[in-house]
Order: sequence, then C-alpha cells, then structure tokens
Amino acid sequence: MEQKKPYIITEKPGTKYYCACTRSQNMPYCDGAHKGSGLHPDKVEIEEEKTVAICSCRSSANLPFCDGAHKTLQ
Ligand code: FES
Repeated sequence: MEQKKPYIITEKPGTKYYCACTRSQNMPYCDGAHKGSGLHPDKVEIEEEKTVAICSCRSSANLPFCDGAHKTLQ
C-alpha cells in the first residue's frame, strides 16, 4: 500500500501510531502487521487538532512527517 505522496490527515488530539514497516492494511496507521519484522510504529502525540502530512515513501528526513523527499524519487 505504498504511495509516492503523503497521507494528508486532519488529526484530533491523542496518541497516534504511524506505520513504519509499510505492511499495514490501514495506512498510515499501524495495524500490528510489523510484528516479527524488528520494526516499530512511529508514536506521535498530537496536542491539538491539526492537519498533518504523513510520509508514505519512508524517504523523509523528518519521519513520520513528509519533508517533500518523495518528489526526488523516480
Ligand atoms: S504495521 Fe507497520 S509499523 Fe505496525
């Protein structure tokens, strides 16, 4: 379920777990599919409702957030 553009989401406050292994069937959120891979989700505390851009290409230098790195991928 990888894509070459970020997931744009309006998040409500709370603890979010964004998938880091790209195996989730509920991207960009962790669904537990990482078990056994040695990878773990990116835990983020959202303090107030806001729109976020979650990286889907895993090339961002600011994971789990998009930094525009997908634009350099072929
Ligand atoms: S399913 Fe990918 S990090 Fe949990």
